[in-house]
Amino acid sequence: MVVVLLGPPGVGKGTQAVRLADEMGAAHVSTGDLLRAARRDGTDLGRKAQAFMDAGEYVPDDLILDLVRDHLDGIDDGAPVFFDGFPRTTAQADGLDRVLGSLGRRLDVVVVFGAPEETLVRRLSGRRSCPHCGAVYNIYFSPPSAEGVCDRCGGLLVHRTDDEPETVRRRLEVYEEQTAPLVSHYEAHRAELKRVAADRPVDEVYADFSRAVRSAS
Ligand code: AP5
Repeated sequence: MVVVLLGPPGVGKGTQAVRLADEMGAAHVSTGDLLRAARRDGTDLGRKAQAFMDAGEYVPDDLILDLVRDHLDGIDDGAPVFFDGFPRTTAQADGLDRVLGSLGRRLDVVVVFGAPEETLVRRLSGRRSCPHCGAVYNIYFSPPSAEGVCDRCGGLLVHRTDDEPETVRRRLEVYEEQTAPLVSHYEAHRAELKRVAADRPVDEVYADFSRAVRSAS
């Protein structure tokens, strides 16, 4: 099974993807996480991606498609895959179709998450992430037990630099310009598309997300 999670920054794609991927034994492929890992490791890709990410702009399609292709090489052929934050442009969507075709696989369902802009801005301003194990918290909605410390691994939590208000505004604009049109792109290509209202408690969103994925043909 191949699932694409589509939705604006802060809507909760990562939160939902990690949980269902865990439950279904799926590979969680987040291009944002892969790019941040490349930056931490100081790779060539990490250096190229840095300025785009810090400005809230998209990293060029060719770099992203190479990254995804390389990453898929390390995943079992039959394993379910959840793509989180990829594709983000029509060029990436076409690239994904080609890669899946070459592996004898196809996209099963696109889940589109939506929430009002003020919800997204509040969630991003409150997000704290663990750079060591990837756990995500929120100082307003799901704080760690001890302020600034990861419950899971004891690492020090950080506020992502691209979650600063100015960059968040740009990320939301870029999403509207370049990624929102993917919904009609997938509709035109007759992909199975399910919408999930994400402006609700995590467990309620999860129930709908899980149902949408499990009922996909
Ligand atoms: P990326 O890391 O993918 O960021 P994003 O898509 O902007 O998404 P976020 O991680 O900000 O949000 P999310 O929807 O996963 O929300 P989360 O679950 O964390 O990309 C970063 C950058 O990398 C991009 O700007 C770009 O530069 C580059 N990039 C990445 N992929 C690319 C691509 N394919 N092409 C080109 N460039 C690319 O939740 C957010 C917060 O809300 C958390 O604190 C969470 O705890 C909380 N929360 C979640 N759900 C709820 C809920 N229901 N109720 C209350 N709080 C909630």
